[in-house]
Amino acid sequence: MRGGELGVDGLPLAEIAARHGTPCYVYSRRALEEAYRALDASLAGVPHLVCYAMKANANLAILDVFARLGSGFDIGSGGELARALAVGADPRRSVFSGVGKSAAELRQALDAGIGCFNVESAAELERLDAVARASARRAPVSLRVNPDVDPRTHPYISTGLKESKFGIAFDDALALYRRARSMTGIEIVGIDMHIGSQITELAPYAEAARKVFALCDALAAEGIALDHVDLGGGLGIRYRDETPVPFPEYAAMVRELFAGRRERLVLEPGRRLVAEAGVLLTRVEYLKPGPVRHYAIVDAAMNDLVRPALYDAWHPVAPVRPRPGTPMRWDLVGPVCESADFLAHDRDLVLEAGDLIAIGAAGAYAMSMSSNYNARPRACEVMVDRGVAHVVRRRETAADLYALESPLPRS
Ligand code: LLP
Repeated sequence: MRGGELGVDGLPLAEIAARHGTPCYVYSRRALEEAYRALDASLAGVPHLVCYAMKANANLAILDVFARLGSGFDIGSGGELARALAVGADPRRSVFSGVGKSAAELRQALDAGIGCFNVESAAELERLDAVARASARRAPVSLRVNPDVDPRTHPYISTGLKESKFGIAFDDALALYRRARSMTGIEIVGIDMHIGSQITELAPYAEAARKVFALCDALAAEGIALDHVDLGGGLGIRYRDETPVPFPEYAAMVRELFAGRRERLVLEPGRRLVAEAGVLLTRVEYLKPGPVRHYAIVDAAMNDLVRPALYDAWHPVAPVRPRPGTPMRWDLVGPVCESADFLAHDRDLVLEAGDLIAIGAAGAYAMSMSSNYNARPRACEVMVDRGVAHVVRRRETAADLYALESPLPRS
C-alpha cells in the first residue's frame, strides 16, 4: 500500500499490470520465504522435514524458492515429480502422495530415488512391491492411515473421515503393515495422515495424531520401528474472517506429541506457505448495472481462479487505486459463458471500467487449478523479488493452446 494504492513489496500493482498485462498472478518472494521460515523456526528443536505440498502452486520459481530454503516436497503426480526434479530438488527429501499412482509413476519415483511413498491402499502396496521387485529394489513406504476424525472444513477438502476415498481404514492398518513387512520390495519407513485442508482448529490434528501414535506403538511392539510420522498438511489461512492456527500453537502441539519419541516429524503444508503470497490482478472490462444485480465484468474468469465457482470460496477483493465516492454492490464475474463464472459476490466497491482489481490470497490452488476453458490462454505469473518483477511464467498464446492438436489428414 502506497498512498492508498496497492503494491507488492513496494512495487505498485498498476505498474506490473501496465508492463505484463492482466489477468496476472503476482507473487512475493519475501512473503513465501517469511511463511516458510516462520513455520520452520517454530519447529526448532523437533527433528523435522517440511515437504511443501506443491499441488498448491507448482510454478518452478516457487519450488525453487522453497528448495533453496531446504524444503522437501509433497509430490502428487508424475508431473509434479518432474517439476521438482526440474528445479534440482533432492527427491530423497520428498514424499509421493496420491490415491491413484500408476505403475509408471511408481517406477518414475523409484528411479528418481523418492524418500517415501505414502501408500493409500492394499492394492497400491501390492503394485509397488511388484514394481520395486522388478528392478531388484526396495521402495521406502509409509501407509497413509485414515484416522476417522472430522476436520470441520469444506466437505470437498475433508479427507480424514471413514467414508473418504483417501487413506487406509484405521482398523486395517496394522494388518497391512504386517503384510508390508513380508514384502521383499517394500521397506517400511513411516506412517502418514492428512485429514483435510483449510483447517483452523488444532483439536482434529491432535485427535488424529494421537491415534496415529497409538498405532506406532502397536507396530513397535511387533518390532516394526518407524523413522518418521507424517502429519500431512491442512493448516488454514484467513480468507475472510477465519482465525488460522498460529504456527507457535501448532508447534506446541507437535512438541507435546513428539516428546520423548524417536520418530522424526514430516509435514506437508501447501496453502499456508503460498496462499497469502499471491494476488490475482485483473481489470474491469465493463460495468453492467442491472435491475437486480450489478455486474463488474473483469478479464479474469473461473478458468483462472475456480475456487469461488467450485467451493463457493470467498477471496478478498480490493481496487488497486481506490476511488472516492459512494460504493455500489457488485458481483465480479468473468467473460466465460457459465453462470458459475464468478470471482466474488456482493462487494461494496467504487468502480469504473478500466480499473484494476487485486484478488487476494490467490497464491494457493489458484493458478495450479486453472484451465483453458473457453480457449482462454492462462494468465502470466510474475514474482516480485527485491522490488523487481520477474516473469516466472509467460502468458499463454492462443497458438500454445492448440499446439498439441491436429485435424485428421485430408483424404
Ligand atoms: N498432503 C496431501 C496428501 C494433500 O492431499 C494435500 C492437499 C496437502 C498435503 C496440502 O494441504 P494444504 O496444506 O494445502 O491444506 N483445492 C482445494 C484444496 C485441496 C487440497 C488437496 N490436498 C482448495 O482450493 O481449497
